[in-house]
Amino acid sequence: MVHDPAHLGFETRAIHTGQKPDPRTGAVIVPIYQTSTYAQDGVGGTREGDYEYSRTANPTRTALEEALAALEGARHALAFGSGMAASDAVLRTTLRPGDHLVLGNDVYGGTFRLIDKVLTHWGVDYSVAHLSDLDEVRTAIRPETKLVWCESPTNPLLGIADITALAELAHAGGARLVVDNTFATPYLQTPLELGADIVVHSTTKYLGGHSDVVGGAVVTDSDELREQLFFLRNASGAVPGAFDAWLTLRGLKTLAVRMERHCDNAELIAEALAVHPKVSRVYYPGLAEHPGHATAAKQMRRFGGMVSFNHADGEQAALEVAAGTRLFVLAESLGGVESLIEHPGRMTHASVAGSLLQVPAELVRLSVGIENARDLLADLNGALG
Ligand SMILES: Cc1ncc(COP(=O)(O)O)c(C=O)c1O
Repeated sequence: MVHDPAHLGFETRAIHTGQKPDPRTGAVIVPIYQTSTYAQDGVGGTREGDYEYSRTANPTRTALEEALAALEGARHALAFGSGMAASDAVLRTTLRPGDHLVLGNDVYGGTFRLIDKVLTHWGVDYSVAHLSDLDEVRTAIRPETKLVWCESPTNPLLGIADITALAELAHAGGARLVVDNTFATPYLQTPLELGADIVVHSTTKYLGGHSDVVGGAVVTDSDELREQLFFLRNASGAVPGAFDAWLTLRGLKTLAVRMERHCDNAELIAEALAVHPKVSRVYYPGLAEHPGHATAAKQMRRFGGMVSFNHADGEQAALEVAAGTRLFVLAESLGGVESLIEHPGRMTHASVAGSLLQVPAELVRLSVGIENARDLLADLNGALG
């Protein structure tokens, strides 16, 4: 895997790493290698580049993986067909029957569902802990704990965990730290540099950035883990197609400028919501009163584009706001250029109802896009009444 010189800035790596002009045609943009198979020089002999079958490897996917690794400051990245496929690969590579993992109390509902409804059938046990409470994490770690699974910021409550401290705790207990970096993106936070062992992404979100492709990635510095993940991905086949890899790579190129604008708009909206009479609580790590603000400021460049809030008048009022905006589209997912609004309790996080991860019924989640901030504020104020 190409490891870019450290002197290249983030924006430059996003546009150039793994993306040299095509040597045969000069095409400036990496082509969509829409092929399942590759001619071989002889029986058992592959040509330059070692491509033989696109489940195993594909040049468009390789370009995406080199760029992703460079952005996370990592040795390796592997692209998957979705964020859940990436998480699944990490869980099945690192855990065996009898193993245990510690899970943040506020992880993405789909991650919880995979662990609670699928992994437990294969003899894996888990505990849920508030990852911002290091004593709680220390208590949750057992001799058979192999993973600590962290999101920071979390989905949907924007909780912040101290990644460096968590990595130390996990390592002291003989476990690895996984960070789902979907909300922050490598532009705002690079968990491997903070001590994490593995980063996972739903590239569906900010990395793709345009709500037009589903994908995932795993990033690590470990050669051994990379080999194990590569083996599992080839064995089970959870790969993205060439066009999906290309769309994600195209999105990556503008990640830095998009994230700056997402952050600008989200900061303005969080501040406006914080003084709105219909809002009883705002969850945004950029606000000084957020309990994780100091930690977020230490480990993040800025605070991201996701903002959640509680409606002061309860669940029905929250549902009405979610259905009442005009520019904010009522939809699941996040991280695209367009603003989205949703009700986690009934939508993205319905699968955690009744569990320790249940979210407040009056919660509304915003994925703040890169439109004109004044228009977004007017839209929200209109829906809040
Ligand atoms: C934080 C986080 N991790 C993982 C996922 C799963 O990703 P995907 O939908 O690409 O499978 C999501 C999806 O919403 C997410 O928000």
